Amino acid sequence: MLRRDFIHKTALASSTALFLPNPIFGVKKAETKARLGFIGVGQRGHNHLEMALFRNDVEINAICDIDSKAIDSALAVCKSKDRKAPAIYKNGDHDFENMVKRDDLDGIVISTPWEWHVPMAIASMKAGKYTGVEVSATVTLQESWDLVNTFEKTGSHCMILENVCYRRDIMAVLNMVRQNMFGELVHAQCGYQHDLREVKFNDGKQVYGGGVEFGEKGYSEARWRTQHSVDRNGDIYPTHGLGPVAEMLNINRGNQFLYLTSIASKGLGLHDYVVKNGGENHPNAKVKFKLGDVVTTNIKCVNGETIMISHDTNLPRPYSLGFRVQGTNGLWMNDGNHIYLEGISKKPHIWDDFKDYQDKYDHPLWKKHAQNAENAGHGGIDYFVLRAFIESIKNKVAPPMDVYDAAAWSAISPLSEESIAKGSAPVNIPDFTRGKWKTNKPIFGLGDEY
Ligand SMILES: NC(=O)c1ccc[n+]([C@@H]2O[C@H](COP(=O)([O-])OP(=O)(O)OC[C@H]3O[C@@H](n4cnc5c(N)ncnc54)[C@H](O)[C@@H]3O)[C@@H](O)[C@H]2O)c1
Repeated sequence: MLRRDFIHKTALASSTALFLPNPIFGVKKAETKARLGFIGVGQRGHNHLEMALFRNDVEINAICDIDSKAIDSALAVCKSKDRKAPAIYKNGDHDFENMVKRDDLDGIVISTPWEWHVPMAIASMKAGKYTGVEVSATVTLQESWDLVNTFEKTGSHCMILENVCYRRDIMAVLNMVRQNMFGELVHAQCGYQHDLREVKFNDGKQVYGGGVEFGEKGYSEARWRTQHSVDRNGDIYPTHGLGPVAEMLNINRGNQFLYLTSIASKGLGLHDYVVKNGGENHPNAKVKFKLGDVVTTNIKCVNGETIMISHDTNLPRPYSLGFRVQGTNGLWMNDGNHIYLEGISKKPHIWDDFKDYQDKYDHPLWKKHAQNAENAGHGGIDYFVLRAFIESIKNKVAPPMDVYDAAAWSAISPLSEESIAKGSAPVNIPDFTRGKWKTNKPIFGLGDEY
């Protein structure tokens, strides 16, 4: 069956269609190309651009950044792939508003500092463009509502570009969850546990380390991200862990976040790093970082499950997103790559190696596209996330991670800040779907198409 016939038939037959038709434009003939514009071509945007340049179904017609070094390197990579030079928008912080109005763009990929995501996404949606926004999508609760309201007003789709949802082991576990291997889910754990000290501080010239500068004197994320650690105490980067777990728990589609509590340890790591690497007389040794080194958030879901999220970016530690998915039949744990399923595992009370399950439960999407993903960043997941965005543009359908996901997953940041500020008090999590979660059906990773 042709892809568009499939969409059309399933959309007509059932509200559980993989991709719902665009609420405004309905189902139309699929395009063979997606015409993209990029706002922000720093580290992440450059990756997306490279990924797009590998595809012959993408035209890159415009690029916007305020940093001429980033623009030059974007133009160089387009040239190296024999592509025509995209139009450039580099005249200040608001030039993106001019770019999004172009009529030769179908989709906009936003990879800018967090505080710019929502103004840019709203401008793009209002201009009728498919909008892909990096993580976290929003910083404040109001911004989450603004995204949802803009989608509902314009009908322009907004996809949160949460690449971790496409991790191969995670998609295999999602597959197993859907086959009821874990029984009814009860608890999940996840987080962002990544030593970012060399990202938060550098010498103003290179991306990683070499100095203890940030803000005006920093480069790349040190220029903007570190200030969030000065001003905020909460889980300021929740979606890499929470997105995958939210898909397994059907959040926004049969389930919902209900409330959370957050607790923050003291914050020593960033100051310690500055003193050890820049000396106690360095001006940044006087900076007070508000962010606790380990922030732990517990979410209660409407259907009774709990989710524990850890944000841990200021101390020396190996990388781990710390996943654990647990139900009435057993559990999977990312650390150690362990699994235990009662009646299936080789010995009672003893872990099996998840390797033995990975092949058997490999997700159909990975089975079909693994070869294309081979050279993509972050173990192939960057290929899948951009592919999903591009395919939804070409097929004129809703993306598999939508504006409600962007709003709900990202809202954990401001809500955790609120809880910590109130002495770890429980804080209600808004229902961004306004009740539609009760009838919405899962849309992510349902087959081998997206
Ligand atoms: N999904 C992932 O795995 C992943 C990985 C890294 C970063 N990210 C996310 O990607 C986003 C960008 O991070 P990064 O590492 O590329 O940061 P970066 O600082 O390297 O790049 C940001 C770019 O945005 C540009 N910019 C800033 N304000 C602008 C404006 N008003 N108009 C146009 N351009 C503007 C900057 O000049 C810079 O080139 C962040 O949201 C980050 O959290 C996601």
